[in-house]
Amino acid sequence: MSKIDWTNLSFSYIKTDYNVRSYFKDGQWSDLEESTSEQLSMHMAATCLHYGQQAFEGLKAFKGKDGKVRIFRMDENAKRMQHSADGILMQPVPAELFKKAVMRVVELNMDYVPPYESGATLYIRPLLIGSGPKVGVSPAEEYTFVVFVTPVGAYFKEGFKPTKQMISRKFDRAAPQGTGNLKVGGNYAASMRAGKVAHEGGYSSVLYLDSREKKYIDEAGPANFFAIKGNTYVTPLSNSILPSITNMSLIQLAKDMGLNVERRKVEMAELSEFDEVGACGTAAVISPIGQIDDIDENVSYKFGDPSEAGPICTKLYHKLRGIQYGDEPDKYGWVT
Ligand code: COI
Repeated sequence: MSKIDWTNLSFSYIKTDYNVRSYFKDGQWSDLEESTSEQLSMHMAATCLHYGQQAFEGLKAFKGKDGKVRIFRMDENAKRMQHSADGILMQPVPAELFKKAVMRVVELNMDYVPPYESGATLYIRPLLIGSGPKVGVSPAEEYTFVVFVTPVGAYFKEGFKPTKQMISRKFDRAAPQGTGNLKVGGNYAASMRAGKVAHEGGYSSVLYLDSREKKYIDEAGPANFFAIKGNTYVTPLSNSILPSITNMSLIQLAKDMGLNVERRKVEMAELSEFDEVGACGTAAVISPIGQIDDIDENVSYKFGDPSEAGPICTKLYHKLRGIQYGDEPDKYGWVT
């Protein structure tokens, strides 16, 4: 293992020692295999290559002050991957196999879980692909499930500092009755061009509006959107956004902090009424948003101090991180 600078990790791939795999063939999943190879070998007519039959997950392992390694809410990731598989007619991975694979790959790569003081984490990436051949557009008969890990730092370079996001009506991430609520690669491919425009303009990400009416807030690029309005945590309800496990957890924490929670359609016009806004997700954790520019209308919305996260975002962030790293009691049974 080459030396890793734990305190300067970005969100990028670093080779680790092992990944684990299972193959679905002739109606059954194989036993888990451990592999040291970074390559997958598959048929050139595999459905994942031609027709985008693939889904992935993202979860994290955290090393606590006590040296214990905790994995956050993997049951929920197992369920969400089944939901994604179902949405594009892939063979779902049984929850027990999913959890066994996640535990095994973390155990095998224990040396890569970043130390507590670094604030970095081990990102776990389960991937399910249609690996059997088809030329007509139809589901594969064979599937490959692989889980690899890589140590990561913050997703947005600002870390827990306010970012700037951009709204433009020229881009959609997902169709109203499409695949936006599934964690499938096609949604991310569809966001790359808009993401490039955002980055070139100095924005960390695109804040997408609903693609039918361009009236409601949908999703903050690779993360969910939430806002704080007085004593209320507000987050969009829409069929085309990813059901974020971090958002689900923040909703619970917000309720326990005595906040009201509203999961509903959120009009873009409400942006001027919010005290704090943020993006949340496994990779992003909580990323406060300090400014949103509507580049079509030339309107700018600003939230709080541009250099500091707001007080409620900060409280939620510390609560969540506290549970993940084992600094706070896990009263919800979220960690393994
Ligand atoms: C995650 O939050 O785990 C994601 O999958 C977002 C992104 C890295 C694609």
